[in-house]
Amino acid sequence: MLQNDPFSPRDVVLGDGSVGHIRPLVPTDREALVAGFNSLSPESRIRRFFFEKKVFSERELHHLTHPDGIDHLAFVLEVPVEGGPTLLPIAVARCFRDEHDHSLAEAAFVTVEDWQGIGIGTALAYALAGAAWGVGIRRWFAALFSDHRTTRNLLNRVGFLGEETALGSGVVKIVCHLHPPGPGDAQPPIHATFSPG
Ligand SMILES: CC(C)(COP(=O)(O)OP(=O)(O)OC[C@H]1O[C@@H](n2cnc3c(N)ncnc32)[C@H](O)[C@@H]1OP(=O)(O)O)[C@@H](O)C(=O)NCCC(=O)NCCS
Repeated sequence: MLQNDPFSPRDVVLGDGSVGHIRPLVPTDREALVAGFNSLSPESRIRRFFFEKKVFSERELHHLTHPDGIDHLAFVLEVPVEGGPTLLPIAVARCFRDEHDHSLAEAAFVTVEDWQGIGIGTALAYALAGAAWGVGIRRWFAALFSDHRTTRNLLNRVGFLGEETALGSGVVKIVCHLHPPGPGDAQPPIHATFSPG
């Protein structure tokens, strides 16, 4: 596997000193995806889906677990379970290319509750942005509550924020113009550090 392949698995040292492993999401992540979703607080569900979503349909699960690496990109970050050899995905970042504008994609991020605030979302955003750039995506848009500073800040690390459109009920659509990949793109500037593996 090429060292600079943006889809290469890689390790990242997190803010609490633990090591997370980033890799593309695969269909066998289905169970972990459901478990992670079930563990989300009502607030996280509302921030991600804008209502307190309870379950995924079969169709949604199939779609979410079958990224094609071109129009649908998805990465997970996994951590060792109780220090053992088994790794458990605890966060996902994904984007879906826009049907009409092929340089645009909708991005979404989620980190399970107990793991938020130590750089996981940031590390995944860098991984996703690098892969997205590699397949011709230059801008993301994300729907979020207008006061959701954490997601704004996340997007602002991997690109610069542009147009913002109100979608109603406090939700806005923000466009993020991705930074081109550079020598430091595998190295988040805050908190977390990558060592491509
Ligand atoms: C948005 C979300 C994905 C962010 O994930 P995360 O893993 O917590 O992201 P990070 O840890 O990289 O960043 C979160 C905060 O922790 C801070 N942080 C990161 N590493 C840190 C460290 N080592 N020490 C202290 N703070 C740290 C970041 O600076 C950031 O702070 P900010 O909110 O002031 O910007 C997560 O909060 C989430 O899943 N929310 C619910 C779903 C959602 O809202 N999704 C977004 C809409 S698509």
